Amino acid sequence: MELRKGLEDIAIKETEITYIDGVLGRLYYRGYSIYDLAEFSNFEETAYLIWFGKLPNKKELQEIKEALAEEREIPEYITEFIKNVRKDANPMDVLRTAVSMLGIEDRSNEELWKKAVKLTAKIPTIISYFDRVRKGLDIVHPDPSLSHAENFLYMMRGEKPNPIDSRTMDVAMILHMDHEMNASTFACLVVASTLSDLYSAITAGISALKGPLHGGANAEALKQFMEIGSKDKVEEYILKKLESGQRIMGFGHRIYKAYDPRAKILKEYARNLAKEKGKMELFEIAEKVDEIGCKILGKKNIYPNVDFYAGLVFYFLGFDPDLFPTVFASSRIVGWTAHVMEYLKDNKLIRPKAIYKGEIGRKYINIENRE
Ligand code: CMC
Repeated sequence: MELRKGLEDIAIKETEITYIDGVLGRLYYRGYSIYDLAEFSNFEETAYLIWFGKLPNKKELQEIKEALAEEREIPEYITEFIKNVRKDANPMDVLRTAVSMLGIEDRSNEELWKKAVKLTAKIPTIISYFDRVRKGLDIVHPDPSLSHAENFLYMMRGEKPNPIDSRTMDVAMILHMDHEMNASTFACLVVASTLSDLYSAITAGISALKGPLHGGANAEALKQFMEIGSKDKVEEYILKKLESGQRIMGFGHRIYKAYDPRAKILKEYARNLAKEKGKMELFEIAEKVDEIGCKILGKKNIYPNVDFYAGLVFYFLGFDPDLFPTVFASSRIVGWTAHVMEYLKDNKLIRPKAIYKGEIGRKYINIENRE
């Protein structure tokens, strides 16, 4: 039996959701280019597309917007948990626990897409309530008249965002919505394939996304730009890091062997926000890391991934770095739930093999006689 570490190049299902061309650096949701979706679509429309396989007509779009807006509030006992949990908790742990608590409550046999809508609607509320409570601020209840992205920023800040921030949030959320068979989506499928429930599957996805090699890389990327401190220190920093065997965070990808199209799109949004917020120096450091990193690592087909500029965008939008993976989750929930629904149409228990390398036939020794 062949060992494929990290399940590299192993397909575990057929999909009609997302296609990645890792060589040319292209990404499609349901056949639509990510460039078109980022330019013309919005969170609600792209979520509908990913869940149902087609762009909604006006009535369908209105219905999904209303369904999401109606489901934003969370049960009181989860708000109480958020108010009482330690303020220095990792936000991903709070999100994971709150989603798990939602699962205790929802024991209905509703269609999965309705549960997917509920989860998608409630995750920004959980994140914003926790962030405001830990900062000693009053929670801001969702406003159903606002779009999904606008409302998220509104609940975080306590005031309505300007159109540039709203549009940037919308686009960032579209770009993070799905990415084929990544670690967290796979974790969701492993749980779903046992015919466990959707909330349990999503709890597993959040757990997998928490790690620094997956959803945590955006904060690490930002940290490195801050650590560098000025443009003229970039080259020295990169060389030192690589010489000591460390990685440039926000670079490299299992599938993309070209520049990640999501990073290309986010770069321009990061540039605009940097101008608007007067943070051009930080953006220019990132741009320089991008340029020098591509020169050195590009030879090994290692280029910036989505997390490289996502950290900057989330930071400019006002999210603290420890919230970045939760923002990623608030968007990836759409892909997780869509893949679970697709997988369950033709379910097969996920049960891979391990190649045994230990001894066999060892003689059992009574504890009295062991060394
Ligand atoms: N900086 C320097 N070298 C790198 C990097 C990097 N960021 N990424 C990969 N390499 C090198 C690595 O050292 C290895 O070199 P060698 O063959 O000489 O030992 C080679 O490239 C292959 O690396 P690998 O870890 O075996 O490849 P992988 O497909 O498992 O790596 C990765 C994928 C994302 C874990 C890796 O590129 C990485 O650790 N990147 C930094 C963390 C990061 O940005 N993560 C976000 C991933 S994209 C968003 C997501 O999916 O959530």
